[in-house]
Amino acid sequence: MSEFSSPARDAASAAALELIEPGMAIGLGSGRAVWRVVERMAERWPDGASVEVVVASERTAEQLRSQLGLEPRELDGDLRLDLVLDGADEVDSQLRLVKGGGGALLREKIVVSAASRFVVVAETTKRVTRLGEEFRLPVEVVRFAWRDTRRRLAALLPDSELRLGEDGEPFVTDEGHLLLDCELAGDADPERLDHELNRIPGVVEHGLFVGLTERALLGTAEGGLEVLTNP
Ligand code: A5P
Repeated sequence: MSEFSSPARDAASAAALELIEPGMAIGLGSGRAVWRVVERMAERWPDGASVEVVVASERTAEQLRSQLGLEPRELDGDLRLDLVLDGADEVDSQLRLVKGGGGALLREKIVVSAASRFVVVAETTKRVTRLGEEFRLPVEVVRFAWRDTRRRLAALLPDSELRLGEDGEPFVTDEGHLLLDCELAGDADPERLDHELNRIPGVVEHGLFVGLTERALLGTAEGGLEVLTNP
């Protein structure tokens, strides 16, 4: 039994697999539903998948090598991705997302930006009425003077916590930065925050994904599927 398998992730990953066609260049983000997609790719194409894959995290790169024997491709300035599949921590009814629970939000946003289609693969438990309901918004900041960055950030997001790793030390992202997990107020405006957060010196990126998602494939606990699309 796969460690990533669950009725919800099995349903969402099966639907996601249907979107992958031989010859495509695809991007893969992070999270258990995405890693379940990688397992399904290995099941469907046991002799090797004829796709090119860009990954957004070291963890996903490991999955790609161990499950598919594939070496990830790099974004080289020319490669355009046909499709990106990625998980999410929260999804609202307008397909706005909070991402970054795994700490890979910066590379994830870069990979999504290289694609013509972005599809979320996740569970219905990730659906929220408003962003910030269940999950703090991760904001990635450079290590240099990060406390000054947090002070500037407080004008927009006053309640932030430095993310720590399992060893109790500050969590360091794949790109060598720190994460501030911030509470989103009930009246937070995701579009405004999306623009304003990136203007703060020291902020590298944030986990709000606004206006990027084409659809969300959300598996239910019973193994069903809910598909959210933009109106
Ligand atoms: C990674 O930074 C996140 O954006 C993930 O996509 C997210 O944490 C989903 O993880 P799970 O599917 O394991 O909950």
